Amino acid sequence: MLQTNVGKVALNTPLLLASGYITETPEFFLKTSGCSGMVTRSLKKNPPPERKNVPAPRYVVFDDGKSMLNCEWGNSTPWTEWYEHGVADVKNSGGSLILSISGRVIEDCSSLIKKFDEIEIDAFEINVSCSHSGAVHGNLNIDIEHLKELLTKIRPLTEKPIWVKLSYSSYLLDMAKIAEELDADAIVCSNSIGPGLFIDTETGLPKLGIKGGAGGVTGKAIFPIALNCVYQLAQTVKIPIVGIGGISTADDVVQMMMAGASAVQLYTAPAITGPEVFRDIVNDLTNYLTAHKINTVRDLIGIAIGKAENNCFKAPKPIVSSKNCIHCGLCHKACAFGAIKQPPDINYDKCVGCNACVGVCPTKALTTHYERSE
Ligand SMILES: Cc1cc2nc3c(=O)[nH]c(=O)nc-3n(C[C@H](O)[C@H](O)[C@H](O)COP(=O)(O)O)c2cc1C
Repeated sequence: MLQTNVGKVALNTPLLLASGYITETPEFFLKTSGCSGMVTRSLKKNPPPERKNVPAPRYVVFDDGKSMLNCEWGNSTPWTEWYEHGVADVKNSGGSLILSISGRVIEDCSSLIKKFDEIEIDAFEINVSCSHSGAVHGNLNIDIEHLKELLTKIRPLTEKPIWVKLSYSSYLLDMAKIAEELDADAIVCSNSIGPGLFIDTETGLPKLGIKGGAGGVTGKAIFPIALNCVYQLAQTVKIPIVGIGGISTADDVVQMMMAGASAVQLYTAPAITGPEVFRDIVNDLTNYLTAHKINTVRDLIGIAIGKAENNCFKAPKPIVSSKNCIHCGLCHKACAFGAIKQPPDINYDKCVGCNACVGVCPTKALTTHYERSE
């Protein structure tokens, strides 16, 4: 029911652990259940000296507890550890192993591809999209010439699948088209988005330790942007898409797959809340498929595509369930149109169906019924 594939790469579930600090080694992945494989930290053959130390502080977690800013880079574990033990540890556990390599130094990337092509990895993922390292060292995420040169050099080196990891930018679709033309096997989107900044109001200093203070935004806050990237990519390229960015629930996975993703990756949710998130998503996803009489998760892929054309609903009026209403007044505060004076009584002559009251209601006392306009 949960099996899917990204081109030639078969996966037991659509969930993969994404590249980052917790994939410096296989340890975290080996604690997961329901996660079909992992992407290594983006390996560099020769990490530049300044990247041997990650600036501190390296994270700022948002007030929502589900999103963060980070300024990590470099590798604390040398690539040789993956070559000698790490790949085998993951493969022996039954997981798929996607080897992430930094695409910044083309010669180094080529040399790692040649080396790892000899052993049993499932695919290469080439990272050209780290937002904060882009801000400091040059933004590869929008560098079409670099991507062309990179893929022209590395594609002939291996028959293994090459996935290209991109981030949101106004060049995203052009970058993806170039990757497809140069025979990449899949697009992974999105990396962290940004960079973004937080300032400590006691000192005036940026909260992150990186030069310039700005880091990449990840987690819940980027989900709608990442989802739209996947939705746009699925209508632009024919190669498979792996969706990533802010996924923490089965509902997020279903949305990503409906938008066109063949599989998804998670980083911030497991990094902040632990490996159990994969087990919980698998349970909820199975329940969702059963409840909706969907035989295989692959049937979700791309369901939403084409449905947003001329997307306008008859003003969807909220319906109140007085059983659930706790008279907290939040709907009244959120109503910019003066339609809710005495919660939960709604003046339907004033209600424009904006949906804000439904969003702020803590007890789901307000719901909307959508009906499409002709
Ligand atoms: C601390 C940290 C380190 C990361 N390191 C890498 C990396 O080495 N290579 C890479 O391609 N992406 C890296 N990422 C980006 C994630 O793989 C992922 O694309 C991004 O966090 C969005 O997904 P999420 O919202 O589920 O976290 C890193 C993210 C974080 C938060």
